[in-house]
Amino acid sequence: MMSSLPKRVTIVEVGPRDGLQNEAAFVSTAQKIGLIERLADAGLSFIEATSFVHPKAVPQLADADAVIGELETRPGLTISALVPNERGLDRALAAGVKRIALFTAASETFTRRNIRMSIADSLAVFRAVSQRAVEAGVSVRAYLSTCFVCPFEGDISARRVAELTEQLLELGADEIALSDTIGAAAPRDVFAVGEAILNRVSAPRLALHLHDTYGTALSNVLAGLQMGITTYDAAVAGLGGCPFAPGAAGNLATEDLVYFLDRMGITTEVDLARVLDAADAAASLVGSPPRSRQWSRVCGKAQGSSRDET
Ligand code: COA
Ligand code: ZN
Repeated sequence: MMSSLPKRVTIVEVGPRDGLQNEAAFVSTAQKIGLIERLADAGLSFIEATSFVHPKAVPQLADADAVIGELETRPGLTISALVPNERGLDRALAAGVKRIALFTAASETFTRRNIRMSIADSLAVFRAVSQRAVEAGVSVRAYLSTCFVCPFEGDISARRVAELTEQLLELGADEIALSDTIGAAAPRDVFAVGEAILNRVSAPRLALHLHDTYGTALSNVLAGLQMGITTYDAAVAGLGGCPFAPGAAGNLATEDLVYFLDRMGITTEVDLARVLDAADAAASLVGSPPRSRQWSRVCGKAQGSSRDET
């Protein structure tokens, strides 16, 4: 069993974007850059730093232009930014971004609530933005939100997810992040979507973007590993959620993912102790303790002590 799992995994750190977009606290540009640098120091080599969405839609990331402009480049570090439309691409290109993340969703209702468009219209935007990006030498990742369960529509068809995945690759994305936006999936859902996709698309083109609302994120990672998926998103300190998806809790915490992969003998090149330092820093920026098992273990703090649930 173990011998068939991948030997090496890439972690895409999304805390500075997917995390901070959902935290009420105001984090200054300098603090954001400090956090991104700590994450890079921990060995994370793919970091989604910010989002060029409308500043009124996500005020926490209204300083995207400054964050990208002021971040120092490092060899081996890829910084990406979320882009929703052509206006966002103009800003991203002006700031000097080399990798962008575009997004759509597998649920019609979620797409309307999130970006006020149909899926078909969002694909037209995707096509235009991605073509311009690739011409400018900028690579494109795609998020496909609500791949398993939608907060408005419930279960999502795995066949639909597979069709959209293929379309997004044809439109210029090099990687599709299959996203469990509300963290409701269990391994059965991941296997169903994987089986529908993997006879058309190869595993290196896929990533899993998991939230941990119901504590199923790591079991979903194992399901992904069993299907040969080698890229996983995570957010330091388990930051995040989605302001447009009711019920979405934080992302899978980077430190929990690193512990799990280390213990499985899978190489990540990320240093757990340094990620915990970054989690500590992130927590003080947002004013609540890190939401991760690793943090509870290291600091002897009760998991979820700051939350309402028991
Ligand atoms: N950055 C800055 N300004 C933008 C912008 C962007 N990415 N996109 C649009 N605008 C501006 C336009 O220039 C226009 O300005 P004007 O009125 O001064 O001419 C105004 O916003 C309205 O433009 P419009 O194309 O109608 O956009 P919209 O208001 O329908 O917004 C989105 C569409 C997608 C950009 C917006 O809903 C958004 O950013 N949502 C955030 C989605 C998100 O972050 N989700 C979480 C990740 S999954
Ligand atoms: Zn997310």
